Amino acid sequence: MNIRCEASPDYLKIAEVITSAFGQPNEAKLVEAIRNSENYIPELSLVAEIDGNIVAHVLFSYIHIVSNEILPVLALAPVAVSPQFQNQGIGTALVKYGLEKADELGEALVIVLGHPSFYPRFGFLQSTCYGIKSPFDSPAEAFMVKPLKNYEIKYTGNVVYPQVFNDV
Ligand SMILES: CC(C)(COP(=O)(O)OP(=O)(O)OC[C@H]1O[C@@H](n2cnc3c(N)ncnc32)[C@H](O)[C@@H]1OP(=O)(O)O)[C@@H](O)C(=O)NCCC(=O)NCCS
Repeated sequence: MNIRCEASPDYLKIAEVITSAFGQPNEAKLVEAIRNSENYIPELSLVAEIDGNIVAHVLFSYIHIVSNEILPVLALAPVAVSPQFQNQGIGTALVKYGLEKADELGEALVIVLGHPSFYPRFGFLQSTCYGIKSPFDSPAEAFMVKPLKNYEIKYTGNVVYPQVFNDV
């Protein structure tokens, strides 16, 4: 398996992978909307390929924590593995790679809304442990954060997502 940054010729295949993983087009549309926004980070839109075929994708993009300051942090969303390639370690490898890259880029914190059984293996903890408040009604344990090397105590407050996330 090879992990690399996405490039524009990959967009269609990435959309197919995401749509088949989620069984709906919403998350692929989210990726497209983020790509066209100021929150997009090209280095953190990653694909996994096997024999030259893209089988998985993960995107980290900017969102904000708002308290006295407005601080940029990363949202991990979405992550998708083609159904026939799931449960073979690909999603885990892709997320791990992305987190390491985000750390290298000097980012401070990653936020994810997702399966509470999947993300703790990467060091994610419920956001309330860090005084970080979810904007969603979802169960508290599904809203998780992972501090990176540049994390500081000032990263507390309310999480604000760009409007495009509300359309998913
Ligand atoms: C969730 C997903 C990204 C995991 O990637 P993967 O390559 O299948 O997973 P891996 O092989 O790396 O890891 C396997 C682990 O993930 C867990 N897992 C797989 N799919 C899962 C799901 N839909 N919900 C919760 N956990 C899931 C497995 O139970 C397994 O856990 P274990 O190691 O404790 O036994 C992938 O299954 C997927 O794309 N699912 C559909 C889209 C989705 O739900 N995306 C995530 C939104 S939060």
